[in-house]
Amino acid sequence: MALAQLPVTIAPRIASFDGSSMRMSSLAGSTPKPRKAVSNIARLLPPVERAYANIRFSILRPKLLSVMDLLLPDAGRILDIGCGFGLFAAYFGQTQPDRRIVGVDPNSRRIEMARHVCHSIGLEGHEFYAGDARDAALEGPFDGAYILDVMHHIPERDQLPMLRRLRDLLAPRGVLVIKDITTEPTFGLEFTRLLDRVMVGWNDPLRYRHHREWGEMLTELGFHVRMVRVPDILPYPHVVIAATKQG
Ligand SMILES: C[S@@+](CC[C@H](N)C(=O)[O-])C[C@H]1O[C@@H](n2cnc3c(N)ncnc32)[C@H](O)[C@@H]1O
Repeated sequence: MALAQLPVTIAPRIASFDGSSMRMSSLAGSTPKPRKAVSNIARLLPPVERAYANIRFSILRPKLLSVMDLLLPDAGRILDIGCGFGLFAAYFGQTQPDRRIVGVDPNSRRIEMARHVCHSIGLEGHEFYAGDARDAALEGPFDGAYILDVMHHIPERDQLPMLRRLRDLLAPRGVLVIKDITTEPTFGLEFTRLLDRVMVGWNDPLRYRHHREWGEMLTELGFHVRMVRVPDILPYPHVVIAATKQG
């Protein structure tokens, strides 16, 4: 397991994908820049969800999005666990149009909205299903998968089985990208917990883990693990983990 200790310094402009080696998009002739990709999504949502989308994209800023975008395969079937309104399916689908994203979330209203957003942007081939990722009928193999700020919402006893399930759904060399919150510093953790509690209420499980713990669990499951802590101007202790299935 390799942990990058240094701040990520990828400048947002690197993610503008203007390079000639990048794939051309079917969307209006070229792949949109990150800011445009975000506004394409937000404008399609009703006011409350639009406000949520703007908050999510201000939390997961270009620096974080660029890291995850680079870690994910640029084509193929990609699983989005806990896809919510499909914000990141629509984002990663715009930055690399050869991705075919399959989103799953228990909230059927969010799933409807994810379908609407992707369809309205003109993204083809994405699919969204209402279901619990722990037992939803998902058919692999997937070339990649991502799970953004969802693992800490999964009850403790189900976290390892969920990671095992994701491993089994991935093709050999497939990558699982996890974005979550680590447990240090304590102030950052408590700041995040408070905001999560506002979102989910007091009864839903919140089980954060230190990034080392996630790394050990993933290594135990046979993944090759790399991770990076991504600094923020807000106190969120973000961590991005790239776990590659071996064999
Ligand atoms: C904090 S939101 C993150 C949504 C989205 N990934 C994002 O980054 O905007 C957590 C999401 O996880 C979903 N979720 C919770 N438990 C789940 C489960 N067992 N299977 C799939 N999704 C789940 C929730 O419905 C919610 O949409």
